[in-house]
This record gives sequence, C-alpha cells and structure tokens, in this order.
Amino acid sequence: MTEPFDAVDVIRAQRDRTGLHPDALRWMVDAYTREYVTDAQMAAFAMAVLLNGMARDEIRVMTDAMIASGERMSFSGLGKPTVDKHSTGGVGDKITLPLAPLVASFGVAVPQLSGRGLGHTGGTLDKLESIPGWRAALSNDEMTAQLREIGAVICAAGAGLAPADKRLYALRDVTGTVEAVPLIASSIMSKKIAEGTSSLVLDVKVGTGAFMHDLDRARELARTMVELGADSGVATTALITGMDTPLGRAIGNANEVRESVEVLAGGGPADVVELTVTLAREMLALAGQPDADVEAALKDGRAMDVWRAMIRAQDGDPDAPLPTPRETHTVTAPSDGFVTELDAWGFGIAAWRLGAGRARPQDPVVHEAGIDLHVQRGDAVTAGQPLFTLGARDADRIPRALQALEGAWTIGASAPEVAPIVREKITA
Ligand code: URA
Repeated sequence: MTEPFDAVDVIRAQRDRTGLHPDALRWMVDAYTREYVTDAQMAAFAMAVLLNGMARDEIRVMTDAMIASGERMSFSGLGKPTVDKHSTGGVGDKITLPLAPLVASFGVAVPQLSGRGLGHTGGTLDKLESIPGWRAALSNDEMTAQLREIGAVICAAGAGLAPADKRLYALRDVTGTVEAVPLIASSIMSKKIAEGTSSLVLDVKVGTGAFMHDLDRARELARTMVELGADSGVATTALITGMDTPLGRAIGNANEVRESVEVLAGGGPADVVELTVTLAREMLALAGQPDADVEAALKDGRAMDVWRAMIRAQDGDPDAPLPTPRETHTVTAPSDGFVTELDAWGFGIAAWRLGAGRARPQDPVVHEAGIDLHVQRGDAVTAGQPLFTLGARDADRIPRALQALEGAWTIGASAPEVAPIVREKITA
C-alpha cells in the first residue's frame, strides 16, 4: 500500500509549527502502531511536541487516533453507572485500593484498568500482586462478570486497549518526553475513553513527587483532560492534589496494601482517608449519588466486604499474611523539633532503590521492599525517636537508598505550614 504521508514531513511540521493536518496526525499514530513509522521518527515527533506544545484540537485528534488504534470496551449492558478514577502518579499513592471497593459499595460499577510502576512512582498492579494468589490478568468476560456481581475490579489493561499508547509511553519513558502535557493528556484519556467508563475523576498530582512540579502546569493538564473527556461524552472532574510529601505512611507494595486495609477497616493515616473520601464523593456525585455517606461505608465494614470479595474473585487470599522485609534499617531523629521536610521525590527514589520499583519493564519488583514512615510532615519529634524504617530483601540495597534520602528530610525548630491535600477542582 502507498502511504499517504511521510513521517519526516509530519515531524518537520510539528518542529516548525507550520500546521499539522488532522489526517497527517491520525496517519502518524496509525503508522507508528503498524510499525511503519520507526521509534526514531516517533521520538523526534514526541520531542517536538514536548518543546512546541499542541493546539487543543490537535490533542483531541491525537487522543482519538490512539483510541482508534485498538478496541473500545462498553459496559452499557451492566445496568448500573460506571465511574473510574485515574491518578497521574505519586509516591505512596495507594488510593485506588480502598477507593474502588468503597465506591462499589454504593452499587456503582468501578472498572479500574491499572498499570505497573516504572521509575519512582508505584503501580497499582504491583501492589496488589503482593497478595498471595492474586491475579491481574482478566478476560473481558471475567471483568464484566466481576463488575456485575461485585461492582469493583482492578486488573491489567489488555493488550488491545490503546496499543498506540503502549508503544508511545514506553518510547517516551526512555527519550525524556514523558512530561509533555499533550502527550500525558492523550495517553491517559485515550485509555479511559477506550475503556468505556461513563464518568471519570482525575487526581492530578502536583509537587516534587509528581510529573507536574508547579500548579500552572498541573492546571493546564487537568483542564486539557477534562475537556477531552467532555468532548467524548465522559463526564470528567479533576482534583489537583499535593504530592510534595509521600501520601500516608507506607511507600512500597505489600506495606501499601496493609495501609489500604487499615483504611477499609475505618482507620489509616488522615491524609489517605481524606483523599479517599474526597475522591469517592466526586465519583459518586458523577454517578448520581451526591449525598452518599462515604465515611459510614468505611466505618461499618461495607467497603471492606467489597474489598474481600474483589480480592477473592481474582484468586487472592485477603486473609493471607503479606510478605515482610528480611533486612531493615531505622533512621531516628537527631534532635528534638518538627518534621519540616519529607520530600516525595527522595523517598520515592529510595523505595525504588530498595526494590519496590523496577529499573526496566521486564524486572520483577520485590513486594516486601519499601519504606514505613513513623512520622509525617509537620509532626513533633524528640531526639532518638524512629522517623522511618527502610526494608529490603538484600542488605546491600540499603546504603544506596540512604543516599537518595540525603537532604530529603529535615528536622527544624518550628512547625511547618502543612498545605491542604486538595488544591483545586476543575470541572467542564
Ligand atoms: N500516566 C499515563 O498513563 N500516561 C502518561 O503519559 C503519564 C501518566
């Protein structure tokens, strides 16, 4: 077949901003998925997008082309509303784990197609795989049956969903082109729209541990995604939330599952509970239940019942002990004072070096590796008090993790101001 466009012309047009014809953009995505356009050409194009940006209608064409590269799922036969949540990724961000069963306990279907972590941010599937027996891969029929019977499903996105994004995301990861707003927005929204959810709440992280380090860029990303959702008939709300300090007290995999179960049992750290409850309210509002008593469902065990059923349905044992690290090292406070700094980026890198994350997509994660914080930013401490414990399978992982933590935490004389976790809400 004769190709209607030439990749070099498309790259030049994006490089010089001379105008991208929608058909040329659609072709570029399609030809890349067919492996006609090479990785080198797509990397050059992605870098031109990162440097020059894209107009809103170009981002929409790009998103539609990524959706068209694969299958579109539909849950319209379920007979109940569907609502999903997506986080742009952060350190200690385990919110999906308590959130999906909590929202499903109100009779809403929550199809949560998740990914694995790469780099310093963790992946939901990696966390859940610390539960003995739990299985991430479900067929579309299994997923639909679980949504009908239990209401919540967290599983791996199949190979057929937005395959263009799978290739492009992996390429961006190794070419320094992850942080482009048009590429992040089209990547996330193509998967969510193809998944067929009727509504969506986005948790757009801002801070040192997030892709977006400043509020203006986080706002731009949130607005772009909310508009893409609205254009495709998916009711979308975005919350911009802080990611300067780790979320909760657990950073890793098994320990994050443990903390999520505490939240489902009515306890858990205040910031994790606050974000879970706030996101659940937004999701339920989009699903037609603006007055749902979300806290009650955490306190009275309804959300926990859905969690247990959800884990069992995917062959996991919710009562099995979770793995614990063989080697630990605890850091204590050098003086009396307040925890003035716990930097999300430093702690994310440290947990990753301990084995909680992977350096290459094919690497396994060490489920028991990670960091347990005994304090959070703003807490008062006395000299000698344990601040955090590093856990690993092999002792030689600990010194490099400690190196990543140099300068990432400080004890000061006066209490720091602690910013609210939810910074802004953006609606269509
Ligand atoms: N998550 C995604 O799915 N895609 C991105 O580009 C960034 C975060």
